[in-house]
Amino acid sequence: MSQNRDNNDRDYHRPVLEHEVAGLLAPVLPGVVVDATFGGGGHTRRLLDEFGESVKVVAIDRDPAALANASELGVPAVQGNFADLRNLVVSVTDEPVSGVLFDFGVSSHQLDQPDRGFSYRHDGPLDMRMGPDAAYTAAEVVNEWPEDRLADAIRRFGEEPLARRLAHAIVEGRPYQSTSQLSTVVAAAVPAARRRAGHPARRTFQAIRIAVNGELDAITTGLDSAIELVRPQGRVLAISYHSLEDRIVKRRFTQGATGCTCPPELPVCGCENSAELRILTRKPIRASAAEVEVNNRARSASLRAAEKVAA
Ligand SMILES: C[S@@+](CC[C@H](N)C(=O)[O-])C[C@H]1O[C@@H](n2cnc3c(N)ncnc32)[C@H](O)[C@@H]1O
Repeated sequence: MSQNRDNNDRDYHRPVLEHEVAGLLAPVLPGVVVDATFGGGGHTRRLLDEFGESVKVVAIDRDPAALANASELGVPAVQGNFADLRNLVVSVTDEPVSGVLFDFGVSSHQLDQPDRGFSYRHDGPLDMRMGPDAAYTAAEVVNEWPEDRLADAIRRFGEEPLARRLAHAIVEGRPYQSTSQLSTVVAAAVPAARRRAGHPARRTFQAIRIAVNGELDAITTGLDSAIELVRPQGRVLAISYHSLEDRIVKRRFTQGATGCTCPPELPVCGCENSAELRILTRKPIRASAAEVEVNNRARSASLRAAEKVAA
């Protein structure tokens, strides 16, 4: 690999926990690994560099711009929402799948493109769609949703205690064309005494992005699909960046690893439930201080992994 390409990929998005991801996938190789959130291809590149021909990667991303990087790495790529994982994968391979990797959220590249409208740091149109399958644009959410629905989204998806107040201010300030207009109105509605670390519009922007892209529903469905798709002893890995994502992964893995649910005093099992997963990470894996030093995004990353038990 040329140094130039390496630098380009890292400019697009620097992958987090790549060493740990490779370590958790090594035992399932040789085989097919689905990179369900290809982004800049950082994790894929690491797997190809480390495992060579032992790994066949299938790249998926909602964002057509992200998949432009896949042809450079010579891996089959399919554009779509990982909520539809099984169909996307079987459209490019009929081989058994040994591993699936999810690295949730947006890439640095998406955040840094003002015309995508993801960030309060740049002025751009209120778009925030990760791909063409998103249900609506941020402009539709901000300009058209009733105040109650907006407040509910900001509270649920932004975990913002001031959700009602901010939704009211947003509705009062309509109409909006740009991210700067929105972030100015939100920031002005946060009283100085209630300001916390970070930009006052951070949670609101996160909430609107999650609503626009139906991110949490996609994670729930995508995890189910990945667990169904992997072969026995195949592995599912998920990297989360906030508690809403991590909670879904933790619950799904715990539910999958739960066998018999009969009360302990029952002499014979009557529920006939058996575990479909073995959890490989009792506690989520976090980035080392050294990694956080060179990649601030790694600070909030949490990696969980589970293995499908043999049928
Ligand atoms: C954090 S980045 C992944 C970065 C990648 N692991 C790397 O090393 O370059 C997340 C990527 O997942 C994509 N994505 C997010 N949700 C998705 C979904 N439901 N279906 C498919 N792709 C999704 C985004 O478009 C983005 O490119």
